[in-house]
Amino acid sequence: MCGIVGYIGKRQAAPILLDGLAKLEYRGYDSAGICVFSEDGFSVAKTKGRLSALSELTNGGAELCGCLGIGHTRWATHGAPSDKNSHPHVSSNGKICVVHNGIIENYLVLKEYLQSVGKAFESDTDTEVIANLFEYYYELEGDLIRAVKRAIEKMTGSYALGILCMDCPGRMLAVKKNSPLIFGFGEGENFIASDVPAILKYTRKVVYLNDGDMVDFNADGAVFYNALGERIEKVPEHIAWEMSAAEKGGYPHFMMKEIHEQPKALRDTVSPRIKNGRVVLDDLQLSAEYLRGVRRIYIVACGSAYYVGCLGKYILEKTCRIPVEPILASEFRYAQPVLGDDTLVIIISQSGETADTLAALREANTLGARTLAIVNVVGSAISKAAHDVIYTWAGPEIAVATTKAYSTQLSVIYLLALYIGDLLGTLSQEEYQTILKALTELPEKMTAMLTENYLEHIETLAGELYEHHDVFFIGRNLDSATCLEGSLKLKEIAYVHSEAYAAGELKHGPISLIEDNTLVIAVAGVPELFDKTMSNVKEVKARGANVLGLTTEDLEADIRKTVDRCLLVPKTHPLLQPSLNVVPLQIFSYYMALARGCDVDKPRNLAKSVTVE
Ligand code: AGP
Repeated sequence: MCGIVGYIGKRQAAPILLDGLAKLEYRGYDSAGICVFSEDGFSVAKTKGRLSALSELTNGGAELCGCLGIGHTRWATHGAPSDKNSHPHVSSNGKICVVHNGIIENYLVLKEYLQSVGKAFESDTDTEVIANLFEYYYELEGDLIRAVKRAIEKMTGSYALGILCMDCPGRMLAVKKNSPLIFGFGEGENFIASDVPAILKYTRKVVYLNDGDMVDFNADGAVFYNALGERIEKVPEHIAWEMSAAEKGGYPHFMMKEIHEQPKALRDTVSPRIKNGRVVLDDLQLSAEYLRGVRRIYIVACGSAYYVGCLGKYILEKTCRIPVEPILASEFRYAQPVLGDDTLVIIISQSGETADTLAALREANTLGARTLAIVNVVGSAISKAAHDVIYTWAGPEIAVATTKAYSTQLSVIYLLALYIGDLLGTLSQEEYQTILKALTELPEKMTAMLTENYLEHIETLAGELYEHHDVFFIGRNLDSATCLEGSLKLKEIAYVHSEAYAAGELKHGPISLIEDNTLVIAVAGVPELFDKTMSNVKEVKARGANVLGLTTEDLEADIRKTVDRCLLVPKTHPLLQPSLNVVPLQIFSYYMALARGCDVDKPRNLAKSVTVE
């Protein structure tokens, strides 16, 4: 979704804004713009397309002189990607300039009113409405803070805003609700941004703004206000991770880098939580007594994080014997779920900012459930709103297609399975130790997979199969959930139409779509269901399908009897097998995307963090 950067200091703002926006490219965008505010007024440059076009337009920022400015990458919501719809937007009288991430739901009503009082509009955006609403109240109030406060009272929806006013040189306001925004403290300079990488080059001292917070700042200081308009103190957090974590580090794409980072991410997430041969979740406030009383678990998330939830159903039900229901956050929030104090709602999110997931979490809190968030981004809205948080220590994930965050989320599900299963006595000590051992061995096994030969093999397969435009993933039990993720990866980055089905379900309808040379990817990683899945493979082969099978190394000879090509993974404990099975599917999608000439890290129409509903 949109990215925001703001700068006030002694350096030229434009190059800093362009550089910051480049670090936010991962969020997904279709146009970009900057505004520099100097004694000559606002200088705005904006254009449809990539940042390189904006950089060209402004000669790397050199065309816009001044030490204060705001920048924006836009992911279109209201109005097509175009120069005129790109941000920043300036109000009718040219006095107020804003960048915005979010959606103003009542923008039409506001626009009609503003038009009726003479405000003019050039774009189709809701953001231009905000600029004019600020102008309207500024004319009434004569004070920028009061004007912004009155205006945001009238706006419904989500926003993170950087605001400049022609009458307030050397000063910027920023305010947020339901969209992420951070403030960065520099020496004689200050920043705002949608995410840390945008400003990490300049400062490690950041504050994560809460909903309703406003910051009024210049180059030398900042005053913070809460939603009630009260002045508040904010203690900056120190960002410990290195810039290299948000750079490609020699890999051609972030996605490939992040695939390779999975063993480390798993180790960082799991190891600190194992002490003396036991899972210790110090981060949890959940009491043993509470967990003993849990009668139902919901796992609520979107996209890949939801697919982790689908795996979580099998894993937690098997180990803890509690009914588990995975549900999409966008459905959960309007489903009037039956929740109570014996319901645990597990929320999964990499970004911690996904609008639907955040809203579902708030709904669960309101309905009286206990909420536990599995989140990657420290200080994100979801991490703050949940009763309990377990962080996945995957480090910054930049590629739109998740890999290492997915793997670490799954590892937290295993930790929870062990922890709760042990507490409830539903896991024997022998099984507990076997799973724990397998979990600690996962990083090693994954590292052993990620060899050049392995990658080359998958690249060759993709080279043979990339022209297929319809793919069916089939698998049973845990594998059916892995199929959902494999299929999503292929859609997201390689733009291949693909469907995922529980293998036993195919003959109830979808098998009619199988014809000569249809590509079917069969995941057969659950040992006791291997033969059953192979029977389903035979059914599709009988109808002409071209089958790529995936199983464990020990079953190579068996699977080769039935499939046309195969992908192998090391064997681990059956419950943990999905952690390894997903890796070749990630790599396969990556090479399919390359073979099809797609932009792997920045797939069309997608955003890394989906902060609108
Ligand atoms: C995964 O590759 C996707 N980019 C997407 O499905 C993602 O998992 C989903 O949008 C949820 O995001 P979150 O984990 O940041 O909440």
